[in-house]
Amino acid sequence: IEWDREIRYTPLTEVSAFFLETLKTRVTNAPWRLGYHIQPTCGLMNDPNGFCFFAGYYHLFYQWFPLGPVHGLKHWYHVKSKNLIDWIDCGVALVPNEAINSHGAYSGSAFILNEELHFFYTANRRDTNWQRSCSQVIAKLDSDGFIYTVNEAISSIPSGYTEHFRDPKVWYEDNTFYAIIGAQSSINYKGTAVIYSSRDGIEWKMLGEIQTQLDDFGYMWECPDYFTLDFAGETHGILIFSPQGIEAQEYKYQNIYQSGYIVGSQINLHSLSFVHGEFEELDFGFDFYAPQTTTAPDGRRILFAWMGLPEIAYPTDKDGWAHCMTLPRELYLCNGKIVQKPIKELVNLRKNRLFHNEIVEDTFLGRCQTFELEASCLNGFTNFQLVLYASSPEFNASKEENTQQLILRYDAKIQCFIIDRTNAGIVFATEYGTTRKLYLSKPLTHIQVFGDYSSLEVFINEGESVASLRHFPSFPENNNLIWNGRHAKMTLWQY
Ligand code: FRU
Repeated sequence: IEWDREIRYTPLTEVSAFFLETLKTRVTNAPWRLGYHIQPTCGLMNDPNGFCFFAGYYHLFYQWFPLGPVHGLKHWYHVKSKNLIDWIDCGVALVPNEAINSHGAYSGSAFILNEELHFFYTANRRDTNWQRSCSQVIAKLDSDGFIYTVNEAISSIPSGYTEHFRDPKVWYEDNTFYAIIGAQSSINYKGTAVIYSSRDGIEWKMLGEIQTQLDDFGYMWECPDYFTLDFAGETHGILIFSPQGIEAQEYKYQNIYQSGYIVGSQINLHSLSFVHGEFEELDFGFDFYAPQTTTAPDGRRILFAWMGLPEIAYPTDKDGWAHCMTLPRELYLCNGKIVQKPIKELVNLRKNRLFHNEIVEDTFLGRCQTFELEASCLNGFTNFQLVLYASSPEFNASKEENTQQLILRYDAKIQCFIIDRTNAGIVFATEYGTTRKLYLSKPLTHIQVFGDYSSLEVFINEGESVASLRHFPSFPENNNLIWNGRHAKMTLWQY
C-alpha cells in the first residue's frame, strides 16, 4: 500500500469489512505478537489515553490508526479490566466522524463528572487547503460505548503559542478541575505547558503558562501529566512530559524523543510557579514514550506508556501492525526520584516455575518466550551476562547460529548496566544506537525482567531504574535463557 494522504485519512466507514477482516487475520497470524501486553488487533497504536478507574473497571484507551502501521486518521481504541491484567476488548470508542474532529482525535485524558466518564482531548481538522486547526474538546462515553463531543472547551490556540498545542491531562484539586496542555511558544519556539481550570468540567479558562526552570528544553512538550506523590510526610508535585528536540548526551537522551519528569513542591496554582529539580528520564530503554498515569482505588499511582516511538520503522510494519503498551507500573517517590515497580497484580501471570535456585556458576535457566525472571545478590552482583532468546543453550555462544540473542550485561567495577540488542534479530532504529548503558549510583543487587516474545522490560534495583524495549528475533525457537555469571539467587516463571 502506498500510504498517501487519501488513504491515511479514509474514514473507517468507507473501508470494506473484508479489508479489515483480512488485515486482522494477517495480524493475528503475524510473528512477534505479544502474549500478555496490550497490543492493537491491527494497525498502529501509540499513546495511552483516558486511563482511569471508573465503575469497577480500569479503562484504557489508546491512539489508534486502524488501517496499517502508519500515523493517519487517529481514533481511540478502548480496553477495560478489573485487575490490570485481564483486558476486555471494547473496540473502537472514539471515531473521528464529527466536524470538530474530522482529521483525528489526538491524545487526552479522562475525568469523572456526574458519574459519567468524560474526556478532555485534542480534536483536529483540516480545511480544503489542508490547513490544520485544532481545538481542545470535552467529550463523554455514551451508553453505546462511543465517545461524543460535549463542548468545544478551547476553540483556538491562545496567543503566544504555535499550532503545537495538544494533549490535555486533567486533575482535580480543591473542588476544581485543572488541565495541563503541551505547547510550543510562538515567541521562542521552545516547548512548554499551559494550565487551565474549570469549576464544572465543561467550561474552561486559561490560567497561563507553567513557570519552570526549563526555559530552553526542547521545541515541544508532548503529553504532560501533573500529579502529586507523598514522601516522608510531605506532598510533592510531579510533572511528567515528553520533550522533543533534546540533544543526545553520552548516555542520556538516546532515543529520538524523550520522556521524563521533574519533581518539586506542588505547582502554585496562582502564580503557576513550579520549583523543581533536574529532569530525569523515566526509562533508559530503546522504546518508551508518552506515558500517562492515573490513581487506583487504593491510592496507587499507576503508569502506562507506549512501548514505541514516533518516526521509527519497526519490523512488524510489514505485517500491518505496530507497537504495544508497557506493563503497568506503580510509581513511588523516594528522595526526589520516581521509583517504578511492576504492579503487584502481575504475580497472577506466573504459571510454571521453571527455575528456582541459588547459583554460583554459568547456568542454563530454561526455555521460554514469555517469562518473568528475578535475580538478586544481597552483596551486589559481580560481572554477569544474561543471554536472552538465544538459539542454543550453549554457554558463551560463539557459533554463527548462536549470535542472535539479546544481552543484559553488568560491569560491577564501574557499576554499569548494559542492554545490547545489536544481534537481537531484525535490526531497526540503528541510527539511535544498539546498546543502552546505565551507570548505577549504588551496586546492583536486584533485577526483574519481563519478556514477552518481542518485548523486554527490565526493572533495576527494585525499580530505581527501568528499561523497556522491543526486539524481533528471526527464529521463534530462539528461546533459551542463559546466565553467565557467579553468585545469584534466581527464579524464572513462565508467563
Ligand atoms: C505523542 C503524540 C501526541 C499526539 C498523538 C497523536 O506521541 O504525538 O502529542 O496527541 O501522539 O497520535
